[in-house]
Amino acid sequence: MKQLLVISYLFWVLVLGGLGYRSLAQPGPEVAETASPWSLETYQYNRYHPMGEIYQWMSQIAEKYKDVVTQHYLGMTYEMRPMYYFKISQPSNDPKKIIWMDCGIHAREWIAPAFCQWFVKEILQNYKDNSKIRNLLRNLDLYVLPVLNVDGYIYTWTTDRHWRKSRSSHNNGTCFGTDLNRNFDVHWCTVGSSKDCNDLKFCGTGPVSEPETKAVSSLIDSKKENILCFLTIHCSGQLILTPYGYTKNKSSNHEELIQVGQKAANALKAKHGTNYRVGSSADILYDTSGTSKDWARDIGIPFSYTFELRDNGTYGFLLPEDQIQPTCEEAMEAVLSILGDVHEKYWPSNSAAKVTSTTVVLSLLMAFISLF
Ligand SMILES: *[C@@H]1O[C@H](CO)[C@@H](O)[C@H](O)[C@H]1NC(C)=O
Ligand SMILES: *[C@@H]1O[C@H](CO)[C@@H](O)[C@H](O)[C@H]1NC(C)=O
Ligand SMILES: *[C@@H]1O[C@H](CO)[C@@H](O)[C@H](O)[C@H]1NC(C)=O
Ligand SMILES: [Zn+2]
Repeated sequence: MKQLLVISYLFWVLVLGGLGYRSLAQPGPEVAETASPWSLETYQYNRYHPMGEIYQWMSQIAEKYKDVVTQHYLGMTYEMRPMYYFKISQPSNDPKKIIWMDCGIHAREWIAPAFCQWFVKEILQNYKDNSKIRNLLRNLDLYVLPVLNVDGYIYTWTTDRHWRKSRSSHNNGTCFGTDLNRNFDVHWCTVGSSKDCNDLKFCGTGPVSEPETKAVSSLIDSKKENILCFLTIHCSGQLILTPYGYTKNKSSNHEELIQVGQKAANALKAKHGTNYRVGSSADILYDTSGTSKDWARDIGIPFSYTFELRDNGTYGFLLPEDQIQPTCEEAMEAVLSILGDVHEKYWPSNSAAKVTSTTVVLSLLMAFISLF
């Protein structure tokens, strides 16, 4: 009998172990180092995580919150690693619109993937109790790609902390990496980028020449009619950037973008007092072409922003871990402000909400009167 129990125990260990391994879907060698007891409850959002842990975190999030989150395969990187995004969606029969957010298109900007993880955690922990988030999710699905440039991100952990680009091979293996945020099909390689593959801003061999940008472009393009807002997260410099980078010309809704962006910067500042500036890339940063934000705006997505998170010149890409939390907390306020404005524009507060607030005011009044 005892032997039977032991055998059955071993059987289940093997089966579950096998399932766990399969669900990780080729996460690369990093996972092996961290395969020890692992729990979502103790995941540290105020630390930077290697790619293996982020893959593992993603499958656990999808498992724990399976009624609202699904994990989707987006494509393969140059080095044949899978790219996954989350779709956070409240089940509903009504048609919904989409918010896109990607992080980590530039490998060394570690605070960006940290923010995507923070954002997902905050939404999932609060959507049931926080009426603002619940309201957003009534009409909006959130698509989140926590690490766009997986190969580059891994390279910053293993080899070169300052690596920015992807890891594609060029000139017969003599130089590596395309700046994925110069590779989108919008005024490709006209300004602020280089055709020299040794350059930090190498635009690639043609528009959308890289598998990572192909994967993102084709998903976004296939859903563009339904995407209201495109957010792409970088560091550093503390900026909220609007289109365009390839020209000082302004997009058709520029004033609105600035107004919504400035309101977001105000919400951000209210949290920890941090200053962010708002403006078009060409106006307040520098000329850039082939960037995802400009491309998204030009295929018709109305709200398109690049966030440049902390800091403002002290640590740059090497932002210390003790700044992850405040950076994410304040950026969360900014993103929620933008989503709130987008939501309000397309689904103006309905009469039901007004009735509710009238009821609140009335009952407060009654309570006040009853004091006398
Ligand atoms: C590329 O490199 C390989 C190995 O070094 C060499 O045999 C080949 O001739 C090179 N090809 C070109 C086009 O330079
Ligand atoms: C900027 O606007 C001017 C005037 O409308 C136009 O001629 C020019 O082509 C635009 N530049 C770009 C890069 O779109
Ligand atoms: C960032 O630092 C620069 C240089 O010190 C300064 O000019 C700029 O105003 C700062 N930006 C913000 C948003 O604090
Ligand atoms: Zn960047």
